[in-house]
Amino acid sequence: MKLSVIGTGYLGAVHAVCMAHLGHEVVAYDTDAAKIAMLSAGSSPFYEPGFDELLGAVLATGRLRFTQSADEAVSGASVHFVCVGTPQLAGSDAADVRYVDSAFKAVVASADCDGLIVGKSTVPVGTAQRLAAELAEASSPHALEIAWNPEFLREGKAIEDTLRPDRLVFGVTSEHAEKTLRQVYGSLIDAGTPHLTSDLATSELVKVAANAFLATKISFINAMAEVCDVVDADVVLLSRALGYDDRIGSRFLNAGLGFGGGCLPKDIRAFSARAGELGASDALRFLHEVDKINVRQREKAVAAARSIVGGDFLGKSVAVLGAAFKPNSDDVRDSPALNVAAAMHLMGADVRVHDPKAIANARKRFPTLSYFDTAEDACRNADLTVLATEWDEYLSIEPASFRSVVRVPRLLDTRNVLDRQYWSDAGWQLFGLGRGGPTA
Ligand code: UDX
Repeated sequence: MKLSVIGTGYLGAVHAVCMAHLGHEVVAYDTDAAKIAMLSAGSSPFYEPGFDELLGAVLATGRLRFTQSADEAVSGASVHFVCVGTPQLAGSDAADVRYVDSAFKAVVASADCDGLIVGKSTVPVGTAQRLAAELAEASSPHALEIAWNPEFLREGKAIEDTLRPDRLVFGVTSEHAEKTLRQVYGSLIDAGTPHLTSDLATSELVKVAANAFLATKISFINAMAEVCDVVDADVVLLSRALGYDDRIGSRFLNAGLGFGGGCLPKDIRAFSARAGELGASDALRFLHEVDKINVRQREKAVAAARSIVGGDFLGKSVAVLGAAFKPNSDDVRDSPALNVAAAMHLMGADVRVHDPKAIANARKRFPTLSYFDTAEDACRNADLTVLATEWDEYLSIEPASFRSVVRVPRLLDTRNVLDRQYWSDAGWQLFGLGRGGPTA
């Protein structure tokens, strides 16, 4: 099938590459000349495991092109995927849907045949219905229809999540739209991917509800971590014990610095804001608490670090391992790791940051922090080491030899991932969040 993809950010670029990999002919459009140039040359504007290889392979087949011309992308395509961002509006919790609106208008203006416009962006519930109404008013000579097909991809696992998704959701208003989406994803459906068809509003809600649930699960265990700290209990053991219950499950139950990134924080805020607009704010009031617990974890990490170095950061050197909001990503949007690093810096610490992939992005956001190319350089003579993003590289640090790098062998493991016994046997004092006192 001939597909257009509007927007080549994280979601759009991955979607375009994966659709071409599945055998479709894809032209992807973006207004950003630099992005189009990079992607056309086979290199990625972001770090995503496996992406560059797949991009190179599909470009070589000739099935994928990138363009700055909406006409070129849309012309001749029967399905148009809208993959633009919906950031948080400045000064508000609501989502900014202006890029969705302009992508939609660009498709309508450029369409030269009948087609299905498929929204993949995360939008306030009701957006698809509004666009459908606008489409009915638009005087296009072609039969254009709206569908919604939310994207659930995780950064770091984006290719796998697109090619082997947990489920596909088709929000449609006609059999034709459903049939078209089934055709697009034919090979995934044949491989057994669960797929559900719904109305437009339900499909929009699936995405925000999933993110709200995940955020709530993380904040739940972080709330338990706060209680553990008060009674000297261990949240890691608590989480493990809870996770054995099939009804609860162990995934997304890791207590620590909490969630960040470009999706969960802004999506739960936008969901609450939308509920308010719809007169249903009571239903989602708990999400405000979820957000507060999450932000508190960052404050608690800073407070713990300050207390570990003796109550004052002035004159203290703190190494921060990790800047990305999670491992296997170079994304620093709302990164808990960087927030903690910046807060300690503001309080007078000499903060030395390392990250395997995110230093360039981190430096743009917080240019006054010091950045180092290796974990060892960042930790040299540190009074405290803070593990803030659980990259594999940090999990395989050998504590006995690493001890000679730092000035004081003290480590705050804000992700609760290191083997405490192993580290304390090597002479380190280890602190966590929600784990009672230090091991020594
Ligand atoms: C998320 C959703 O998972 C995805 O379905 C959606 O499409 C976009 O938002 P992503 O932002 O890539 O994906 O990251 P995810 O893997 O969900 O992690 C989110 C955050 O939660 C990270 O900061 C991570 O460190 C944190 N997290 C995750 C925890 O603090 N504890 C956990 O147990 C799991």
